Amino acid sequence: MTKQFENKVAMVTGAGSGIGAAMARRFAEEGAKVVAADLNEDAAREVAAEIEKHGGIAAAVRQDVGDPARSRIRSNSRWRNSGGSTSR
Ligand SMILES: NC(=O)c1ccc[n+]([C@@H]2O[C@H](COP(=O)([O-])OP(=O)(O)OC[C@H]3O[C@@H](n4cnc5c(N)ncnc54)[C@H](O)[C@@H]3O)[C@@H](O)[C@H]2O)c1
Repeated sequence: MTKQFENKVAMVTGAGSGIGAAMARRFAEEGAKVVAADLNEDAAREVAAEIEKHGGIAAAVRQDVGDPARSRIRSNSRWRNSGGSTSR
């Protein structure tokens, strides 16, 4: 069965906790590659790791939505192998 967001990338802000984390998990379940963005990088990385543990593809970004120019992508091998871009 085709998933709703196959071949799409979902960037979720505030993905380290609460509603954002739930959205990140749900997008991944529907086939999206997820960029989990949060001010709290450790929390974003935990959510991305959890998604990957369940077979999804995710990268974590430390991002202050009040200052989007200053973000860092922490990608992993699954993300890079999927064709996801990386920048620091
Ligand atoms: N939980 C609810 O039932 C509910 C209902 C209505 C509205 N809201 C609103 O929705 C929003 C999210 O709620 P939640 O329960 O998921 O909160 P939460 O505190 O669980 O999650 C918020 C996440 O946003 C991150 N964050 C905070 N400032 C940031 C910034 N500048 N840049 C990037 N990330 C940042 C935090 O690190 C955290 O991981 C809040 O504004 C809340 O008031 C929540």
